This record gives sequence, C-alpha cells and structure tokens, in this order.
Amino acid sequence: MNRLLRCCVPVLCAGLVPVLSVNAQTAPATAPAAAPAAQNAAPGFKNLKVLPDTITRDDLRKRMRQFTGDLGVQCEFCHAPADPVTKRADRASDANPVKETARYMIQMTEDINAKYLAQIQNREDTNPVTCGTCHRGEKHPSVFIPPPRQEGSRRPGAPSAVAPPATAPPA
Ligand code: HEC
Ligand code: HEC
Repeated sequence: MNRLLRCCVPVLCAGLVPVLSVNAQTAPATAPAAAPAAQNAAPGFKNLKVLPDTITRDDLRKRMRQFTGDLGVQCEFCHAPADPVTKRADRASDANPVKETARYMIQMTEDINAKYLAQIQNREDTNPVTCGTCHRGEKHPSVFIPPPRQEGSRRPGAPSAVAPPATAPPA
C-alpha cells in the first residue's frame, strides 16, 4: 500500500504538473522514514517458501514454538540435525523431508482459515484452525473413534440433537 503510493505519487505529479517534477523527485527521499521498521521486519531468513519473508524474528520464533507444541516434537523433527562438529543448526536447510511436508501443512491450514472458514456466516466459534486442532500434541493426528451409540435410542432419520450418553469408549 505504502509502496504503491510512494511510486505512484511521483508519476502522477510528473504527468499532471510537469513543473513540479523536481519536487516530485525529491519526494521519495522522505519515504525511507519507514526504513527502521522495515529492517526489523526483514531479518534475512534464507529459505522461506510459504511464510511471508517480511516475518519478524519474534513472529517466526513464535510460529516455530507453536509447531513444536502442537505436534509434541522438537525442532529436529522438521529441521536437519545440528552439525556434529560445530553443533550449529542450519534451519534454512531442506535436508529433512519432513520440513517440506510441514510447508504443505502450513498452506493447508492457512487455506482452511482464509478460503473456507472465512466463508461461513455467523460462525459461533471464530477460533482459527491451527496445527493443534488436528494434531493435538501428536506427530500424526490419531483416528477419531466416536463412542458407540446405544441401540434403539433414536428413530432412524431423527435429528441427533441430543448428545450420546457420556459413556467412555472401550479402551
Ligand atoms: C512442524 C515442523 C517444524 C518444526 C517443529 C520447527 N520448524 Fe522451523 N521451519 C519449518 C518450516 C516448514 C520452515 C520453512 C517455512 C517456509 O518455507 O516458509 C521453517 C523455517 C525455520 C527458520 C527459518 C530458516 C531460514 O533462514 O529460512 C528458522 C530459524 C526455524 N525454522 C527455526 C526453528 C526452531 C528454532 C524450531 C524449534 C523451536 C523449529 N524451527 C521447529 C518447520 C518446522
Ligand atoms: C486438518 C487437519 C490437520 C491440520 C490443521 C494440520 N495437520 Fe499436519 N497432518 C495431518 C494429517 C492427517 C497428517 C498425516 C499423518 C500421517 O501420515 O499419519 C499430518 C501430517 C503432518 C506432518 C508429517 C509427519 C511425518 O511424520 O512425516 C507434519 C510435519 C505436519 N503434519 C505438520 C503440521 C503443521 C506444522 C501444521 C500447522 C501449520 C499441521 N500439520 C496442521 C492433519 C493436519
């Protein structure tokens, strides 16, 4: 938005009022006032393909911690193990194939929220879907097995408005 304005204003000025074009050329010089924020926003991550490359270091760290918590894993579940000699971790490396799977998962989760849930009118629950919605602290979301329904407790086709009795599923 800002960038758009910044580049359009001189063009507009130059086109409409050629006399002012000298002024217009000096205008962009004031624009870098926003530079400190932009610097903070671009901490130079090397290999972001799905997360915005304007993400701040803090926000990236938060996202990564959320991944570890939501999946119940350590960083190395997705990232390449640290160099055994230098002990340095190369987080930009794609050597661990799980990282690529995680990229699809990030996009899938964003799509669920932005493309699908965003279409639902009058949502009662506006919490976004997160990795944890499915993973629940597990690497592989477990299969959901509903508790057995009691025989004959409802007519066929009747709406299941009443929750099934809270009997524990067989272990
Ligand atoms: C569930 C998988 C997963 C876990 C767990 C995970 N990450 Fe990531 N991480 C990724 C993915 C995927 C990317 C690349 C995102 C992209 O392509 O936009 C990434 C990118 C990064 C980057 C940016 C590297 C660069 O320069 O491109 C850093 C730094 C990072 N992770 C640190 C961590 C740390 C520290 C942890 C542990 C606290 C962690 N990650 C846990 C999946 C994960
Ligand atoms: C809609 C449900 C759902 C959501 C949301 C979801 N996942 Fe998944 N995820 C799955 C399923 C299903 C699998 C496949 C599990 C399997 O292979 O047994 C999976 C597998 C994965 C794997 C592969 C694990 C492996 O062993 O290779 C990773 C990594 C992963 N998810 C990360 C994420 C991350 C990170 C997020 C959030 C950005 C996320 N998932 C959100 C359902 C989901």
